This record gives sequence, C-alpha cells and structure tokens, in this order.
Amino acid sequence: MSSTTTLDIAPFLSQKSQLWKACGIRGLFPLENIPGMISLLAGRPNPSTFPFESITMKLKPALAGMPTPSRDDDPLNLTLDGDILSEALQYGGTAGLARFIEWLEEFQTHVHKRVRDDTWSVTVGSGSQDLMFKACEALVHEGDSVLVETPVYPGTLGFLAALPCSLIEVHADGQGLNPVNLESILANWETDHPGKRAPKFLYTIPSGSNPTGASIPEHRKVAVLQLARKYNLLVLEDDAYAFLYYGPAGQQARSYFALESEVNAERGRVVRFDSFSKVFSSGMRLGYMTAPPRLAAVVNMITSNTNLQPATLTQVMAYTLLSRWGPAGFLEHCAAVADVYRIRRDAFERVARKHLAGLAEWTTPVAGMFLYIKLLVHADGRAADSHALVTQKAVARGVLAVPGSAFMPGGSATPFVRVSFSLIEEAGAEEACRRLRDVILEARAEAEAEAR
Ligand SMILES: Cc1ncc(COP(=O)(O)O)c(C=O)c1O
Repeated sequence: MSSTTTLDIAPFLSQKSQLWKACGIRGLFPLENIPGMISLLAGRPNPSTFPFESITMKLKPALAGMPTPSRDDDPLNLTLDGDILSEALQYGGTAGLARFIEWLEEFQTHVHKRVRDDTWSVTVGSGSQDLMFKACEALVHEGDSVLVETPVYPGTLGFLAALPCSLIEVHADGQGLNPVNLESILANWETDHPGKRAPKFLYTIPSGSNPTGASIPEHRKVAVLQLARKYNLLVLEDDAYAFLYYGPAGQQARSYFALESEVNAERGRVVRFDSFSKVFSSGMRLGYMTAPPRLAAVVNMITSNTNLQPATLTQVMAYTLLSRWGPAGFLEHCAAVADVYRIRRDAFERVARKHLAGLAEWTTPVAGMFLYIKLLVHADGRAADSHALVTQKAVARGVLAVPGSAFMPGGSATPFVRVSFSLIEEAGAEEACRRLRDVILEARAEAEAEAR
C-alpha cells in the first residue's frame, strides 16, 4: 500500500471554480463548535415557533424486522421529538448533517473496503443529481471535452448541455461501457480533434444503467480504470442503481471507487455518486458524493451560495433509520428492494417474449428497472429510427415509452426504446407489449410497402 499514490485533483478544477467563495455566514459555522463560544451568527429561526410537536415514522412491517436491536419499545415506530426534532427542522451543515456523513463514511468503508483517509470524504446533496451537477460545474472549463457513456441518462445530458464543453460519446453495449471504444477515442484524440485539449473526465453509469439496464463487468471496469490513468481522466461513477442489483449472488462487480487502488495503485481519480432515491424515497431528495476533499470543497461552496444545504429533516429521518439498521440491515433492505425489481423484470420479460418474439430484442438486466428494447422494424435486421414510431404510432395506440434518441447526446437516430418495469403490473405489461407488437407490425408493413 505504501506505493499507492494520490492524484492531485487541483489541475482538473475549472478556473470558474475559483470564483465560488465560502458564504459570509456559513463559512463561519465551524467556529460555533469551539467550546465556550457564544454564537450570534446565523439567522436561524427559533424552533419553539415551529408548529410540529413530534413526527412519527411508522415502518412497514415487512421491512421493519431488521437485525439491529431497537432501544424503542415499538420497533415499527421511530419518533422524532425534542432536541432531535428541533435539529431536524433547523438549518444544518452545508455538506450534510455531521453524524449522517459519519455514518455514510463508515458505510462506504464497509461496502467499498476503502480505508478512511484524507483522499476522500462524503458530501450529502439534495439527490445525487444535485451533486453531479455541482461537481461538473466545478470541473468543466470553457472548451473542455467530456466523455459520456452513450446512451445516457437525459438528466445528466440536460445539465451538461448548459456547460461550455463538448460531449464525446463513448458507446456502450449490453455489457455497459465498452473500454475498446473508450481506448479508440483516446488513442486517436490528437488526430481526430487537432488542437483540442484531451478529455477531462468520463461520466458513466455502471450498474443497471438508465437507459440500457446494462451492468459493466469488473474486467471492463479494470480496463476503464487503466485507460483513465494512462490518459489522465477522472471517472465520474453515477451508481444510482447499485443497490438494485438482483443478479447472481456474489457476482456484483466491485465499484470503480473500490477498485482504483488495486488496479492503478492510486487514489483520488474516481468520484462516486450514490442515491437513496431508489431504496428509501425519491421524494426525500437524498444522495451522496464520495470525492477528493478538494473537489468536495468546491461543491460545498456552490451549495452554500445556492440551495444552502440538503434538507435536514429528510437527513434526520434517513439517519434515524440507518443508525437503527446498521450497514448490514440497510443492505438487507436493499436486497429485499432489489428482489422486488427482479420479480418485476421476470414478469415483464415473460410477456415481452410472448408478444415481441422476432420483433424486438434486448439484454436481460441484472440490476435496475429498465429494459432497453431494440425494435426490429426491418425483418432483415437493418436498424430503423424508433423516434417517430415511439412518439407517434405508439402513443396513438396507447402505449408510452421513451425513444432511444432521448438518450443520445447528439440526438442521433436509434432503433431502441426504453421501457420501465418498476410500476407496471403484469396485466398492464401484457397489454403494453401487445400494443407495442401492433406498432412494430404496422411499421414493418409500411416499410415493406415502401420497399416494393
Ligand atoms: C442514472 C441516474 N443518475 C441519477 C439520477 C438522479 O438521482 P437522484 O434522485 O438521487 O437525484 C437518476 C434518476 O433517475 C438516474 O437514473
């Protein structure tokens, strides 16, 4: 371990990142922790004026029987009152609630087997997307190029489009990001992009990707990390679906964050984003970033001057439950959640196979909530753009899904459509696939008539 180096992230930060300064009030908050200090600092409202006496969270029985013994009499109820409630209803730390951050840092050590050292820290955000945007804001400098796994989550495309960078597509397949494609872009960079600075980072969704459903195997992650080091890129690992892994037990690939020391004898090149949206609640708006502290400091400065902090109430709710469950209990909960999606995947695939055989194909996902379906409009296998088909013909027949073009940074044509099986019941799924079948058959008939 002694030969492990730490990447200096400073050269990756944009010039603009230096314009963010600590907020004149929030920057002084740490001084309040000095023993004996009397604080007249913040314009915090007096919590005695808040109308809430207590908040009780009643857990669902099926998910409540977690292993950690409870100090409450009633294991199904978690009540927030007194000082904890006052804290939950008050302004709080910019990077998140200190003991929630502490819990998450311990959790990251547990899950990713990374020792706690000064090469990384956890920052809580209002969902992981909040942090992804701020991290990109901190990194992207005018004229930069950013490598984007393609197809990709349109939420990321949305904020990257507003930053002064070019998006370079790195094509993924049924096994996720393909390192061969990444290498080809990087090896030919100077020839293909004369005079342009080499890309600064790669954005990738390694587990149960939105939209492809693909999960990249560990050997590909190793190759990606080696390329990241060779070509000096950061890896932004958006692992929003990591906890929804339902593939064969023990076969989930380790994260980029877990692997970087082993593969490159180096730390600090991976910036990881986790989300509570898929396993606790998407409305609580909680996510966390695990990043080199220097980058986290810029993200925190952006937060302190924009939305101030992630919501304290939902952090206290999450922390109260997590500290009762412990890391093992939380992971057990995640496994139970993932199982729900596995059952739904199986049910959806059953009806999809029944109605779409020969008309569509897809790779079975092992995580997440999406099937990325290739529509076989031409019987001879030629690709046809799905856009009009999905946005017009399918809508007319009463089935809604997302056309593949929505996931292409350049909006290019694609024969794919993303369907989500997270909510649909089997009868609805069956009818949706039947309608999709009619749409494809109609398009096939039209294509054949045109060819005649
Ligand atoms: C790949 C991906 N990343 C990030 C997000 C946003 O997550 P959060 O709710 O934590 O902001 C989503 C939401 O669907 C997503 O699909």
